[in-house]
Amino acid sequence: MNRPSILLTGGAGYIGSHTFVALHGAGFAPVILDDFSNSHPAVLERLERITKVRPVLEKGDVRDVAFVETVLRRHRPAGVVHFAGSKAVGESVAQPLKYFDNNIGGAISLLRAMETLGGELRPTLVFSSSATVYGDPATVPITEDFPRSHTNPYGHTKLVIEDMLLALQRARPEWRIAILRYFNPVGAHPSGLIGEDPAGIPNNLMPFVTQVAVGLRAHLNVFGGDYPTPDGTGVRDYIHVDDLAAGHVAALQALFAGQESFTVNLGTGRGYSVLQVVRAFEQASGRKIPYEIVARRPGDVAQCYADPSLARRLLGWEARKGIDEMCADAWRWQEGNPKGYAG
Ligand SMILES: NC(=O)c1ccc[n+]([C@@H]2O[C@H](COP(=O)([O-])OP(=O)(O)OC[C@H]3O[C@@H](n4cnc5c(N)ncnc54)[C@H](O)[C@@H]3O)[C@@H](O)[C@H]2O)c1
Repeated sequence: MNRPSILLTGGAGYIGSHTFVALHGAGFAPVILDDFSNSHPAVLERLERITKVRPVLEKGDVRDVAFVETVLRRHRPAGVVHFAGSKAVGESVAQPLKYFDNNIGGAISLLRAMETLGGELRPTLVFSSSATVYGDPATVPITEDFPRSHTNPYGHTKLVIEDMLLALQRARPEWRIAILRYFNPVGAHPSGLIGEDPAGIPNNLMPFVTQVAVGLRAHLNVFGGDYPTPDGTGVRDYIHVDDLAAGHVAALQALFAGQESFTVNLGTGRGYSVLQVVRAFEQASGRKIPYEIVARRPGDVAQCYADPSLARRLLGWEARKGIDEMCADAWRWQEGNPKGYAG
């Protein structure tokens, strides 16, 4: 069988590695382009254990247009998924230039390289956007036509890239572009072989919780206990990373089948508070998670969850895995790999 090749920029990272597995399972030949600035080469061996195929790696920086052009010519991918970028909100406030350079610079470089080859290959792109583009939403659930805004440089870069893609789409109608707005990806592949391996102190709830459970951190800080939510803690739409990965496969298949370019939310449509997640995790792991309620974090919103119905309509995709499975899989990964890929 001739498997169509799909280029995954940032394919060694958390979401990219799970998408690699999903694409392989769906009959594609994913190729990873990554500079390992926020991932570990050990992920390749893990991917090989899951898929029985040694991943093809193109090691380098997506901001290097000549390099990306060479990679595109070599593999002639039917589609590109652009995950590569920097994603830590707090770091983006402290180091805005790093974010504008890596995220916007990386996107421009990739798009230029794709445009150069446009005559030979119909440009088809799936872009990792984020629910952060909704800023502080006036109501929930959030539909794709909600106004967009940003509260930090990371979110700003996602907004700028979305706008670039829309302008490009208007100028080049032959481009096929899917903008996927992820809600809060958590969990890990059920094998426990790949998962989220954040460098330093985790910014997100689930890896923090799993690190407390495994004894790497003493307790969880819960940022804000006085939000207008049922238990006072922030409510988010957690989505299993394997469901998210399946969303990328569905997006590519829809574009290949003739679907016009689109922007969709990828979430479950259900919100859980921090304390609900802590309880579900305690249940799944059998470990107690000591926590302390501290001040709100600037820029955090009370509630954020998706209306995922457009993705269901356009892609026939919906999230299947619930919070218990998310917690059980996150715990299996953390327990088996207490120090992530390096340990
Ligand atoms: N994880 C989340 O909560 C979340 C939510 C919404 C959107 N996103 C977006 O999804 C994408 C993937 O996120 P993730 O959680 O897998 O992050 P990640 O950091 O695990 O993966 C990103 C990968 O890109 C690579 N990379 C970074 N800059 C690069 C460059 N210049 N050249 C080549 N490779 C580079 C990193 O080494 C890493 O392997 C990002 O664009 C992120 O902004 C993530």
